[in-house]
Amino acid sequence: MRLLLKNGEVIYKEKLKQDILIDDGMIVEVGENIIDSDASIIDCEGYVISPGFIDMHVHLREPGFEDKETVKTGTAAAAKGGYTTICPMPNTNPVMDDINKLMNFMKIVEKDAIVNVLPYASINKNLRDDHDIVDMEGIHQYVAGFSNDGIGVQSPKHMYQAMQKANLYEAMIAAHCEDESILFGGYVHQGVKSRENGWESMTSLPESLQIARDVLIAEETDCRYHVCHISTKEGIRIVKDAKKRGQKVTCEVTPHHLLLTSLDVVDTNFKMNPPLRGIDDKYALIQALLEGTIDCIATDHAPHLENEKKRSMKEAPFGVVGLETAFPLIYTHFVRSNMASLGQAIEWFSINPAKILNLNMGYLVKGRQADVTILDLNTKKAVDKHTFLSKGKNTPFHGFECYGWPVMTIVKGKVVYQDGKFNSKEE
Ligand code: DOR
Repeated sequence: MRLLLKNGEVIYKEKLKQDILIDDGMIVEVGENIIDSDASIIDCEGYVISPGFIDMHVHLREPGFEDKETVKTGTAAAAKGGYTTICPMPNTNPVMDDINKLMNFMKIVEKDAIVNVLPYASINKNLRDDHDIVDMEGIHQYVAGFSNDGIGVQSPKHMYQAMQKANLYEAMIAAHCEDESILFGGYVHQGVKSRENGWESMTSLPESLQIARDVLIAEETDCRYHVCHISTKEGIRIVKDAKKRGQKVTCEVTPHHLLLTSLDVVDTNFKMNPPLRGIDDKYALIQALLEGTIDCIATDHAPHLENEKKRSMKEAPFGVVGLETAFPLIYTHFVRSNMASLGQAIEWFSINPAKILNLNMGYLVKGRQADVTILDLNTKKAVDKHTFLSKGKNTPFHGFECYGWPVMTIVKGKVVYQDGKFNSKEE
């Protein structure tokens, strides 16, 4: 199957008018005015061509919670959002904590996924750090890294042991940072809204304290350490210092923590973990992203059922969906508003996650796998949760007007999404 993307503007540091020839899943030529009579031509006039996006933090819910999402619906949502690679977290049922469970999951991926899927395994059996560490030796080559996402590793001893082990295989620990001993039952961030509504609240300490602890343990063990969904200014300060000292520390931020604060919380579609923080945190995150302390954007796509989200603020599950809205939100609020360049946005969505995950992706050059996202930067459209391909409709961004919508997504040289429709595996 040969494809020729013609007349588009390819994003490198800036936009360049170039054609891209794809054959057998690979990019075989990039240049001006390519002619190939055997290729199907895709006219990209008026569009921008980006390396495919990589989301290093999603929840696909399969196996175990297929009513919330499946590999099929989650990867369709990813393709619609311009993602060509996603990394699902292991908090499924069963938890991805041994090689057999991972291989069974990869069979579902083989059958149903329309984008590349590189899963995480858990750090500990059953996600709890009072259980054994998983067989990192047998698993590490099949996974993005190890994470107990959704739950913090409570014991310093257990994090020390996990990092020591991970470092033997140069594997990454991706940490959900949350010290339960100082949560005091909090499920939103402490502030005006929590007081007004009588919601139990937490400070920034459960997150920042574990980031500080983990950075020190990572220094001692020389482990590759990645902070999931960073949300606090204190956490940023610690990561910035670790980077300055040359440590192998990276971090991700979500669109919701960059664009919303605890003052915006009106219903459970604004409830996630970590919670929306204060305005000073939001500005610290933005500054850290722009200056490079934060490496990349990840969605923490966390689909839940509508009836679960109808419960009270206390009882509803944590999480919001994000795959179908992340790029338009970030493009509109950061690039179109002139805070950042398009090149920076592509670093956050593609180049930097590829680097963190050691993937040979993130650039549109000859010889690379043809994972490509084609974007319409000029059409304004409101986020409409009713059009989501994800089963999850739990977004705080319904009605937000955005530019920067993906119009086509190509994975390994195959068009998997185009103008609202995805091409499932069997077609
Ligand atoms: O909001 C969240 N939802 N945060 C997490 O860490 C887990 C996730 C989920 O699995 O729903």
